[in-house]
Amino acid sequence: MHRRDFIAAMLATTLIPRASFGAGAAQTRLIAQPVQQVLLPPGNGPTQLLGFNGSVPGPEVRVGQGERLSVAFENRLQQGSAVHWHGIRLPNPMDGVPGLTQDPVAPGEAFDYGFVAPDAGTYWYHSHHLSHEQVARGMMGPLIVEDSTPPDVDHDIVALLADWRLDEDGTLLDDFGNMHDMAHGGRMGNYAKAFLSQTRVATGQRIRLRIINGATDRIFPLVLGGLDGRVVALDGMPVPAPRAMADIVLAPAQRVDIIADVTGPVRLDMATRQGDYRLGDLDLSGEVTPRGTTIAALAPNRVATPSTPAQRLTLTMSGGAMGGRHGGDDIWSFNGLSGMRPEPFASFSQGETARISLVNDTRFPHGIHLHGHHFHELTPEGDPGDLRDTSLVAAGETRDILCVFDNPGRWMLHCHMLSHQAAGMKTWVEVT
Ligand code: C2O
Ligand code: CU
Repeated sequence: MHRRDFIAAMLATTLIPRASFGAGAAQTRLIAQPVQQVLLPPGNGPTQLLGFNGSVPGPEVRVGQGERLSVAFENRLQQGSAVHWHGIRLPNPMDGVPGLTQDPVAPGEAFDYGFVAPDAGTYWYHSHHLSHEQVARGMMGPLIVEDSTPPDVDHDIVALLADWRLDEDGTLLDDFGNMHDMAHGGRMGNYAKAFLSQTRVATGQRIRLRIINGATDRIFPLVLGGLDGRVVALDGMPVPAPRAMADIVLAPAQRVDIIADVTGPVRLDMATRQGDYRLGDLDLSGEVTPRGTTIAALAPNRVATPSTPAQRLTLTMSGGAMGGRHGGDDIWSFNGLSGMRPEPFASFSQGETARISLVNDTRFPHGIHLHGHHFHELTPEGDPGDLRDTSLVAAGETRDILCVFDNPGRWMLHCHMLSHQAAGMKTWVEVT
C-alpha cells in the first residue's frame, strides 16, 4: 500500500454539476466515456479510466424525494454498458441490469432512464455490465435524494470511497478476472481514497457526511476524526434513533450518513493492521459557535411493515478458495448454483413478507445485495432491525433478513464484492 502522506493531497477537484431542477423533476445526462485523470498526488501521471461526463466519480446527481429523475444515458465506450441506481426502489424496467431488465446499451447507443425516487437518502449509481471491471475503472457516482425537510446542517458533503490497483506511475492494472482475487476476498487495490464533494469546513459547523463505498471488493472499517456526532442513516434509510459513530464498517455498496459537529481537522481513515490509512480529510477555515443542540433522527422513509413471513428461505453461500473452487465463473455459488439461471431463486406474490437466512458457508465475508427493495436485518432477538439494501455477512456467519417483496419485477440478488458476482455469486428473484 502506498504511504499515508501520498493521500493528503488526494481531495477531489472534480466539478460536480447538479441536475437541473424543474417543478418536481430533475433531468440530467450521463455520458459514459474514457477519462484520463490524475488519481495519485500531483506530479504523478494520469490514470486511464472509464467515467461519466469526463470525470471519476461521475457527477453528483440530486433529486428531491418523490420527484422524478430523468437521465439521458449515452454510451461512448467501446463496449456495452448500463446504469444501475443502487438502492432506489424503482420500477423494474429502470433497474439497469443487462440480461434481466434490459439489453446492454451498445457502443454509440443511448437509453433513457426515468423514475420517481421514493426514499430520501444516500444512494449511488454504477455500471451493471461487466461491473467488476467497469466499476473498477471508475463507472460510479453519487445519487442523492434530498429530504423534503432537510436536517439543520451547514454542509452536506459526499465522500465516495474507491479502491484502485495502480502501478507506481498511476497506470491502472488491468488484471481483471484474476482467479486468485476472485476465489479469495476479491480484487483489492493498493491505493484507496475518498472523493469528497467539499474539502473545507469551519470548526463548530454541523455537517452531514454521506459516505458511499464504491469499491468493487474492499470492506472499509472507518475511523473518523475531528467530528462529534451520530450515525443517522444506513444504506439511505434513517435509523430510528441516531447512534454512536464507533465501529462503522462499510461493505462494497453500503452507505452511512453521519451528522456531526466539527471539532478539529476532519479525517476519514480506514483502520488497517498497519494503522490508520488516510482516505481523505477536510481542512479548517474559521470557527463558528456550535449549535449545542442534539442530533435528531431523520424523518423515516415509507417502507412497508413486515407481516408474518409467508416463506422461509435459505441462501447458502459456498465455494471460493478453501471451499474447493479456484477457477472459472463458478467459483462461488448460492445453494450450490452459480450464475444467472433461467429460473429465479424464489418467487413472491406482491406484498408478501419473506424471511431469508443468509448462510455464509465460506472463508470470506460477503455483502449480499437485493435489488428494488430494502429489507430488515433481524436482530439477535429476532426483531426487525436496520433497513438495508446490502448486508455484510462474515465468514461462517448466518444473518436472517425480513423483506416485504412489494416491488413487482425481476430483481437481482448478488454479492456486491463484484469479483465474487462475476465468479458466480448471483441469482434473481421474481415478484408478481
Ligand atoms: Cu450496486 Cu446489482 O448492484
Ligand atoms: Cu462475495
